[in-house]
This record gives sequence, structure tokens and C-alpha cells, in this order.
Amino acid sequence: TAPAAVIVAIDGPAGTGKSSTSKAVAAKLGLGYLDTGAQYRAITWWMLSNGIDVNDATAVADASAKPVIVSGTDPAAPTITVDGLDAAGPIRTQEVTSAVSAVSAVPEVRTLITDLQRSIAAEAPDGIVVEGRDIGITVLPDADLKVFLTASPEARAARRSGELKGKEASDLAATREALIKRDAADSGRKTSPLAKADDAVEVDTTELTLEQVIECVVTLIEGAGAEK
Ligand code: DC
Repeated sequence: TAPAAVIVAIDGPAGTGKSSTSKAVAAKLGLGYLDTGAQYRAITWWMLSNGIDVNDATAVADASAKPVIVSGTDPAAPTITVDGLDAAGPIRTQEVTSAVSAVSAVPEVRTLITDLQRSIAAEAPDGIVVEGRDIGITVLPDADLKVFLTASPEARAARRSGELKGKEASDLAATREALIKRDAADSGRKTSPLAKADDAVEVDTTELTLEQVIECVVTLIEGAGAEK
């Protein structure tokens, strides 16, 4: 039986299946779900919409406290709003994807979003699955379970191309290049880079189906709960 308020951190690079896995696991176990990448995308969308130069770290830092970002944590219907506006669609555009690494590297942005993430996790009545890049190390270092998902660049690019199909024209090679570039930026930044926590369980999803990854994480959570 799952313990009360279990906190699960799921980190890893883009295209490893973090969102699909985290949502499904949360729904299965009756936990909340938080997509922290969506929050960084939301603040990036606000910066772009308000004419802030995303490559000007000072301008981004100065404006960072202005937008009000609210995340709904129901895994069956996660929501994100910025100043009351539905941001779910706009945060997935290529424009936001290209700008998000620069905005999320700004320390003031990270401090604000990290505080928001911690308060959302603390208020989740039955516990929560939080997915991102720095959850296990920085945001929730005391999580009951930390998972680090990996996959080959080819598998990640193929998954992302599938997700983009019908929304925006994209070919596999371009997706692969963009992913590698974004991962390098996210892993190389000074503040809270993408990294595996020492006590995280690494799961390579290259050869696994989504169902298998979900099953694996559910088993890990049940094991972590039993130890509690
Ligand atoms: O998970 P995603 O691809 O939607 O995340 C978008 C970007 O947000 C990612 O390229 C880096 C940033 N991010 C971050 O810096 N820290 C997190 N915990 C989650 C995302």
C-alpha cells in the first residue's frame, strides 16, 4: 500500500518519456502531477509576449516576478495559466522551445519557479509526481523516490518527432539537433543543471515501451513506500 503523501521526482533530458510516464504513474496511484518544464515554458512565453529579450539575463531577471503562473495538478487534465490565460497551447510552439533554455538558466527565474514547485508539492494531499531536470537534486532533495530517465538520442528524437507530427513541420534530423542543443544548454548551465542525483534510480527507456516504463516506476514507488 502506498504511504500518505509520497513524493516522487522524475528527471531526465527531453524525449525520454518523462511526461507520459509521470502522468500515467500519478493517475494509477492517485497522486498529483506537476510538469515543471511547462512552468519554465510558461514564463518564457510571457517574456516573449511582453517583448523581453530572452538573451538579456538582466532584463529576464528584472521581469521574472511579474507573471503569475498557476499549475493544475490533476494528472488526467493538467493545466497551466499565466495571468489567468490558458498557456497550454502557446507553451508548445517552436518559438518557446527555442527560447526556454536561456530563460530557465537565469538564477532569479529558477529561484521563483523552485519556490512555486516546493509549495505545490507541500500542498499535494496524497503526494505528487514532479517531473523536470533538477527535481531530485535541487527542488525536492528529500523525495521518497528519485528516478532518472535516459534514452539514446535517436529514440528521443523519434519520440519528439511523433509528438510534433501534425502540429509543426519537423524532420527527424532537425529534431535530433535541436534536442541535443537544448540538452547541452540545460546540462551545461551554472544554476541547477540537468543531472542525476546520486540516490536516483536510472532507467534507460531506449528499448522499453511506455507501458514497461510505467510499470517499472510503479514498482519502484511501491518499494519506496514499503521502506517508509
Ligand atoms: O520538459 P520540457 O522539455 O518541457 O522542459 C522545457 C525546458 O525547461 C527545458 O529545456 C529546461 C527547462 N527546465 C528546467 O530548467 N528545469 C526543470 N526542472 C524543468 C525544465
